[in-house]
Order: sequence, then structure tokens, then C-alpha cells
Amino acid sequence: MRGNDYFRELLGIKVVVAKDGYSKMSLKITKEHTNFVGFTHGGVIFALADCAFAEAVNFGDKRAVAVQVSINFVRPSSEGDVLTAEAKTISEGKTFALCSITVRKENKEVALFTGLAYKLLTDKKI
Ligand SMILES: CC(C)(COP(=O)(O)OP(=O)(O)OC[C@H]1O[C@@H](n2cnc3c(N)ncnc32)[C@H](O)[C@@H]1OP(=O)(O)O)[C@@H](O)C(=O)NCCC(=O)NCCS
Repeated sequence: MRGNDYFRELLGIKVVVAKDGYSKMSLKITKEHTNFVGFTHGGVIFALADCAFAEAVNFGDKRAVAVQVSINFVRPSSEGDVLTAEAKTISEGKTFALCSITVRKENKEVALFTGLAYKLLTDKKI
């Protein structure tokens, strides 16, 4: 991805792998990432999945923005857990790219995220 993702840096998300149509990110959950019940905040899990999605569809000179996403939180996590998000592009045309992102703690699914990205013309500024 060209440029900086300042929000990703703020949360402490690390890029493990970045390729065209594929990425893997990780985040060690700290107290600041948790909510009032002691689980990882849903917004943090969403952000981790969203960052992996963004990297997979913005590889190299590619530019794309999310237009529709959905997420299911299937298992809780908490302080001390290391979460990974693995994003795979499952379909890509001239206009849209569809991605599947799985957030895991160790080998167990924590969240399943689906994202649809709109591909921007790379010679136009946002
Ligand atoms: C909502 C939820 C409890 C429903 O679970 P379910 O469909 O009834 O299925 P189960 O009761 O079998 O639980 C699924 C997993 O959640 C765990 N879980 C359920 N309730 C839990 C609780 N109160 N505390 C900790 N873990 C819990 C179970 O141990 C199971 O994990 P495992 O397979 O590793 O043992 C579960 O999907 C969940 O906890 N999702 C995550 C919610 C979340 O973290 N949202 C974002 C922040 S609020």
C-alpha cells in the first residue's frame, strides 16, 4: 500500500504479509483494546479486519475504497490474545473486488468479515 495508515499505527496493528489480493495482519490485544465486559472491543476487531481488507485491495499502485462490509463476531477474545486477520480477494472485476477476511486467535475464528471494494481510477486524486 502506498502512503501511511495512521489509524492502523495508532492501534498497533502489524503487517505480517502483503501481496496483491492477499494480506495478513496481527494485533496483540492490550487493556486499551477492550470493552466494558473485558472482551476485545468490536470496533478494534472490525478495524483489524478492515486494515487487512484495505491492504489486499490496495497493493502497489492499486486504489480501492470499501463500499459495503459485514462482520460476524463468533468468539470472544481478550487482553493478551494475539489476533490475526487474513484477507483474500475472492473475486475481482474492472469495478469491484470482493474479499473474505478471517480474524483468528491461534487457530480459532474470532470474526468473519466480508468486504466489497470499489476500484478507483489510479490517475485521479481522491
Ligand atoms: C455471542 C456468542 C456468545 C454466541 O455463542 P454461541 O453461538 O451460542 O456459541 P457457544 O456458546 O458455543 O460459544 C462460541 C465460543 O464463544 C465462547 N464463549 C461463549 N460465551 C462466552 C463467555 N461468556 N465468555 C467467554 N467465552 C465465551 C465459547 O467458549 C466458544 O468458544 P470455544 O469454541 O473456543 O470454546 C459468541 O458468538 C461470542 O462470544 N461472540 C463474540 C462476541 C464479541 O466478542 N463481540 C465483540 C465485542 S462485544
